[in-house]
Parts: sequence; structure tokens; C-alpha cells
Amino acid sequence: MKFLDKVLVTGGCGFIGSHLVNYLANKGKKVVVLDNFAGGKANLKYIEKDAKIIRGSIESRNACRKALKGVDTVFHIAAHAAEGQSVFVPIFNAKTNLIGSITLLTEAINSRIEDFVFTSTIAVYGRPKKLPVNEEHPLQPEDPYGITKKAFEDYLRVYYELGRIKPYIVRFFNVFGPRQRLDDPYRGVVPIFINRIMQNKPPIIFGDGLQKRAFTYITDIIEPLYKIVGKKKLINNPINIGNTEVWSVKRLAETIIKKMGANLKPEFVPRRKSDVKVIYADITKAKKLLNYKPRVTINEGLDYTIEWALREGPKKFKYMDYFEIEKLAHSAYKKKQL
Ligand code: UD1
Repeated sequence: MKFLDKVLVTGGCGFIGSHLVNYLANKGKKVVVLDNFAGGKANLKYIEKDAKIIRGSIESRNACRKALKGVDTVFHIAAHAAEGQSVFVPIFNAKTNLIGSITLLTEAINSRIEDFVFTSTIAVYGRPKKLPVNEEHPLQPEDPYGITKKAFEDYLRVYYELGRIKPYIVRFFNVFGPRQRLDDPYRGVVPIFINRIMQNKPPIIFGDGLQKRAFTYITDIIEPLYKIVGKKKLINNPINIGNTEVWSVKRLAETIIKKMGANLKPEFVPRRKSDVKVIYADITKAKKLLNYKPRVTINEGLDYTIEWALREGPKKFKYMDYFEIEKLAHSAYKKKQL
């Protein structure tokens, strides 16, 4: 069966999705996007020329069927990627990230599509037992977001074993860069800090700021998504993709303040429950099987991102208007402090 001729990108209007759409179109691929614009329409301008855009939800079987017509490869990126938030909206999280994914998978199988790329996350590992985490590390997610990503990895494995799908599972770390939402208070520490500083407000740090992440610049995750398709050794064989450079959130805040020339000091509030303290991953497998090498340093990536954000200008944070478990929402979110 052929692959990578006509592709579907779910969440193609989002941060990662829109960059992937441009990359695939540049390679001459026919691209269809399925997106419900839950994350807004800000990135539409970047992809309009590169894809046929269908407005719809992955939770709708009809929308999935329509979007999958004639497609041979699926890149499933659509998700509500907010770990901290998923703790207090577990039902919303499961509907989007799990039921939506299963609906898409079901219709992909019914349409006889085999090649299915899924963007999973380092959050499936939970609290690391040793660092860096490689793909054999036990999967014990610490939050509902990680649970749904892990569960969908299992669905893919099962339908692979039933001979119905060739899954490629890519586990990303903390991705940042242009087009990531500036107005979302729940996710993406880099754009949140930049947006606050543009408003001359200090970055707010959850906890002591010594939590560490391997912040990864957007262009360093796009190519492997494409290169993985057709690699026999990586079918149903999850792989870590991301940076090897690891920074604390405190260092991140101080660096962004300095780069933006602001006269501010980070403000500290209690830690977010279920926040993993330090996590970064081993990418030996990606180096070996995909010849993978992250190219952009955190410093360079921050420069590009700040340059873009300054062009966009400051944005008002958009809060969700409900909590499913109010007691578990961090006070900063309840007070709309960001
Ligand atoms: C991120 C990813 C998630 C991925 C996970 C892997 C994003 C948007 N989410 O979640 O998809 O599965 O990494 O670890 O990239 N923080 C502050 N102040 C703020 C915002 C955040 O101190 O205003 C802190 C958080 O408490 C956390 C760190 O910064 O310790 C990173 O937060 P965030 O960008 O939301 O990402 P993760 O929760 O790590």
C-alpha cells in the first residue's frame, strides 16, 4: 500500500500541526486538515494555501470519515495538551484526547488506512525512576493527560496486533516556538512567560523553579514525524524525540526577562500538584534509527520565539469558564492571576 501521498493532519491549525502542514506541503504532499479550532484560528493564515481545511471534531465519526477520504497516512496531532489543567477537567480531557483519538482510529481502520503517526508525550512515564528516561522506562503517568496518551498508545498496539494498523508513536518533550498560543494560561511555560513580560508583569513560577525540562524548539520535532513513516523498525515501537539540553524553569524565567530587556523578577507561588520535578529523556534510539539530532539550542529557540511574539504583541489570557473538580484547580487559575 502507498503512503505519504495524501495525508491527514488532525489539529493542523494548532502549534505543532501547522508547522507540520507547511513541511508536508513543501515536500509536495496533498494535505487535509481536520481541526475544530478549539485553540483559535490564529494559525489559519499560515496553512490556508497548503491544505484543504475541514472544520470538525475528531470526536465526530462523520467528520473523521469526511477528512479521511482518499488519505493514505494519518498524523494525529489534535489534543488538548495541558497536563496541569487535565487534573481538574478529567472528563473534558478524556473526551478530547481519548474518545476523539479512538473515533479517529476506528474510522481510519474502516477506511483501510494503515500508516498512523501519533504524537504522544514524555508525560506517559510519570515521575522518573532514573534519568534520562528511555523508552523501556515503566509507564506510570502522574496526570489524566498522560493517562489518556498512554491509553491511546495501548489502543494502537492492540489494533496493530490485530493486523489493522501500522502505528508510529513519537513521545515529545516540552516543545516551544512561534505559533504556540500566547493566550493560554494553562500550558506552555515559554509563551506564558513571554506574554506576561510583554505586559510588563513578572513571570509566575509554580514551586521553587528548580523543576527541569528539556525544552525543544519546534523545528527539531517536525522532520522526524515525516521520516518515521515507512520505517519498519519503528512500527509499534515508541520513540523519544526532543532536546538533550535541560533547563530549570527559574533559569528559563531569568533568561527570558534578560533577553526581553525587562526590569522584572519572577514571582513564586505554591507548586502545581502532580508536577513532575525533573524529567528529560534518552534519545539514543532516535539517533540510531532515525539519525536524529536536535539542532537548535534553547537560547536560539528563545530568540526566534521572542522575535515572533513581539510581532504578535501581548494577548489577554483566556480562561476556561468551568472546573470539573474545583478543589484541585491551582489558586493561580481560580484567581485568574496570570
Ligand atoms: C509539557 C507539555 C506536555 C508534555 C509535558 C512533558 C506543553 C504545553 N505541555 O507539560 O504536552 O506532555 O511537558 O513533560 O509543552 N510553570 C510555571 N509557571 C507558569 C507555567 C508553568 O512555573 O506560568 C512550570 C510548570 O509548573 C512546570 C513547567 O513550568 O513545572 C513546565 O510547564 P508546562 O509548560 O505547562 O509544561 P509541562 O507541564 O511540563
